[in-house]
Amino acid sequence: LARGVTGPDLAGRHVVVSAGGTREPLDPVRFLGNRSSGKQGYALARAAAARGARVTLVAANTSLPDPAGVDVVPVGTAVQLREAVLKAAADADAVVMAAAVADFRPETYATGKIKKKDGQDPEPVVLVRNPDVLAELSAHRAREGQVVVGFAAETDDVLANGREKLRRKGCDLLVVNEVGESRTFGSEENEAVVLAADGEETPVPYGPKEALADTVWDLVARRLP
Ligand code: CTP
Ligand code: CA
Repeated sequence: LARGVTGPDLAGRHVVVSAGGTREPLDPVRFLGNRSSGKQGYALARAAAARGARVTLVAANTSLPDPAGVDVVPVGTAVQLREAVLKAAADADAVVMAAAVADFRPETYATGKIKKKDGQDPEPVVLVRNPDVLAELSAHRAREGQVVVGFAAETDDVLANGREKLRRKGCDLLVVNEVGESRTFGSEENEAVVLAADGEETPVPYGPKEALADTVWDLVARRLP
């Protein structure tokens, strides 16, 4: 059982977790991507399953072992992730968006490999906005009382940026961590502050992603109707 938890407090609940990072293709062999490993999302999925929840894990381009007893839905792009998350969220008690979703995608997809041409500069890549899945989930709750959680990696004034983002997204909880240099991406450890729409702020000391996952589920469980 999870640290500090005396029973399967998420039994009978369905939770959805997104993990990893979306890839936006330019042609059959190239994409715009990001450095999210998916480890935090997988830790969230394992922790929720250990606490008795039915878990749907929407996994974007991860290469991690499927957690036991978890329903894994693999996706590639932000548009595919949106579709899979919204479908799973229809009957979910909570949705945690731990995936790094690309803000933009190339406007056009070349069905054949893009080739360089002698003496010619490359064509510019034109980007268009992707849908904001977290904002959409927050604005249109599939179920009354559904708890929606976002993640934000910030630099500079991390807390101020986080508070602003929590308001803008309209989610219930926002897990904010500071990034830069070698922090967070691909690592086993994490440090964060969980900001809640009701004003509660929970610092989580530097430690394993499992500990942060359990703190997130503690905060979610307390807000479930
Ligand atoms: N997110 C999302 N859909 C997007 C972009 C982000 O659902 N198109 C979610 C992420 O999964 C994360 C949260 O929103 O849970 C915050 O992501 P972040 O990139 O920090 O937010 P943005 O609004 O894109 O802000 P920024 O301009 O700082 O990237
Ligand atoms: Ca973003």
